[in-house]
Amino acid sequence: MADSHLTDIKRPVVFQPPDLTDAEYQTIANFVHKTSGINLLDGKKELVRARLTKRIAQLEMKNFKTYFQYVMTDSSGDELVFLLDALATNLTSFWREPQHFIFMAKTFLPELEMSRKRGKTGGPRLRIWSAACSSGEEPYTIAMVVFENSHYFSAGGDFRMLATDLSTKVLNVAKKGQYGPESAKNIPPAVLAKYLTKNQAEKGGYIYTISPEIRRLISFRRFNLMDPMPYKGPMDLIFCRNVMIYFDRDTIAKLVDKFYKLLEPGGYLFIGHSESLSGLQHKFTYVAPCIYRKLQR
Ligand SMILES: C[S@@+](CC[C@H](N)C(=O)[O-])C[C@H]1O[C@@H](n2cnc3c(N)ncnc32)[C@H](O)[C@@H]1O
Repeated sequence: MADSHLTDIKRPVVFQPPDLTDAEYQTIANFVHKTSGINLLDGKKELVRARLTKRIAQLEMKNFKTYFQYVMTDSSGDELVFLLDALATNLTSFWREPQHFIFMAKTFLPELEMSRKRGKTGGPRLRIWSAACSSGEEPYTIAMVVFENSHYFSAGGDFRMLATDLSTKVLNVAKKGQYGPESAKNIPPAVLAKYLTKNQAEKGGYIYTISPEIRRLISFRRFNLMDPMPYKGPMDLIFCRNVMIYFDRDTIAKLVDKFYKLLEPGGYLFIGHSESLSGLQHKFTYVAPCIYRKLQR
């Protein structure tokens, strides 16, 4: 006979990972595609299951259906942000795909300084957008490259940057401007010494902080590339690297057209090295691998 007092003992609730049916996966993938342009349809079921299971466990929900209903009915929109954060791939690094920065230093900046275009400060005006900036390594690299290659801008010339991403999680890292040694090792040592300070980290080891003179150039904002452009520009350079790879051709074509409209005539668009505009209808002129130029209005 079982001891009744033993059967009464409350056992800890063990979380049972829910099953993700094909139909649920399809619903989530379609929704994510519609809201962010991210295409999850090609074999990403395991990724979706793994990343959202953690969230479902945190919320103590039983299955994907309940979670998805929660996302759809959350009027604050916070859970949608959370869902997209969980599914976006944020991989980035300082000086990633360095040929773009070499092009900036050797071609773009000398060209700009020679141009007759004049801003408020009497010299040229420079506006750059890092669209899909992830945790900030890309916009900080761009700003350091400008300072290293232009006395005019490093001495206070009219230079501002916009850096946007869909994910609030990575934007918070970007705004802090603090990076560990693993990440900082991609910065050329002389540049590192000039624009970052090294401090003891709370948890041991070191942390590098981007200098205030670089940080104050950049406005970090949450922006979904699928949304209508709130920015008027005109921009001189747009970096949109390693994000269009997740979008389908139609989405890319529309986005590239928005970039075209926002660029100054003569401005450049930089895309990631595994991305291409070939086969798309667009008005840009090809300059070099992954570099395109707007020649006229
Ligand atoms: C792989 S990272 C690329 C970061 C950086 N551009 C680079 O090349 O190193 C892709 C970034 O795109 C962002 N992203 C994905 N979909 C987006 C969308 N619809 N609008 C804005 N950002 C998006 C992700 O949050 C992620 O931070």
